[in-house]
Amino acid sequence: MAEQVHILGIESSCDETAAAVVTGGSDVRSSVVASQAVLHGKYGGVVPEVASRAHIERIVPVIAEALEQARIRPDELAAVAVAHRPGLVVALMVGVTAAKTLSMVWEKPLIAVDHVEAHLQSALLHQAEPAWPAVALIVSGGHTNLYFARGVLELKRIGRTIDDAAGEAFDKVATILHLPYPGGPSIEKIARHGNPRAVDFPRSMLGPDSLDFSFSGLKTAVLYHVRGQDMKGPSRVASMTPEEIADVAASFQAAVVDVLVAKTRRSVEQTGARTVLLGGGVAANSPLRETMERMCTQAGRRLWVAPRPLCTDNAVMVASLAYFKYRAGQFADLSLEPRASA
Ligand code: KG4
Ligand code: ZN
Repeated sequence: MAEQVHILGIESSCDETAAAVVTGGSDVRSSVVASQAVLHGKYGGVVPEVASRAHIERIVPVIAEALEQARIRPDELAAVAVAHRPGLVVALMVGVTAAKTLSMVWEKPLIAVDHVEAHLQSALLHQAEPAWPAVALIVSGGHTNLYFARGVLELKRIGRTIDDAAGEAFDKVATILHLPYPGGPSIEKIARHGNPRAVDFPRSMLGPDSLDFSFSGLKTAVLYHVRGQDMKGPSRVASMTPEEIADVAASFQAAVVDVLVAKTRRSVEQTGARTVLLGGGVAANSPLRETMERMCTQAGRRLWVAPRPLCTDNAVMVASLAYFKYRAGQFADLSLEPRASA
């Protein structure tokens, strides 16, 4: 019988408290996600102290529930894994403290995982081995990174945002348009009724060769559009028709998608990658998934995209990536600390 490596994954980097048990890197035995979206909604974004307190309240029941659903006893686990970077330190600290404590009490090895690299694992979870090398675009609320990957554990970052992350731009533009948090799903929903060519928003490419991203100019362009060029008047949003708001949302979304896909195509051309991987919260966006698929078909590359429920933060991706680290003997110890950056 094949080796049964059960790993408990823990995730608390932003506003979801999550735990999961994954066997052998891909067999999802349980996945529990306690979202805090309702708590942060009224502030239009994640408030670190609120997130930290909610993680503290939820982490133990979430972990207990993940073990219960998986019907795995602590003594059957091969390791305890946790996302320890990047993210809000006060939030990460809760997951890291829980993982260190359980690793010590249960006498199980501890595995530290990079949250953004774990997002990439969501795209690989239910697939056979992809054709390496690959480029991976991870687009979330906190990060917009391009990687060149020769394997699951061999990642090199080749591009990043120099200001706002793509998801952050969705969230900020949703606030500008008086749409509910989180902004990505709200904008996608209303944009279905809008014309993506109604407003010609800028597409920042940062020069002919750059693989970096910039979304703050686009966000400002949306603000100018609803406030007027002198920015002196009040926002027009309250007096705009739903059709006008839908047009702005659709045009903004099209600008983000165009840039993400164009940069990914550029990275494929520059690196000769055979496969494209797509993950992170913004990868749940249908126009992005469809446009990326078309680009990959045209370029003769295979696209592997994370299933929608695994695009946003979860612990399956943590436990899954940890399996490869377990096999490679990459363990952490009790000196592990949360880190804000990668
Ligand atoms: O990966 P994630 O759950 O958390 C971080 O690691 O940041 O990503 C959350 C981000 C939020 O900014 C949210 O607005 C965005 O993903 N998002 C979307 C969609 N669903 C979530 N953006 C665009 N379209 C969506 N359907
Ligand atoms: Zn994330």
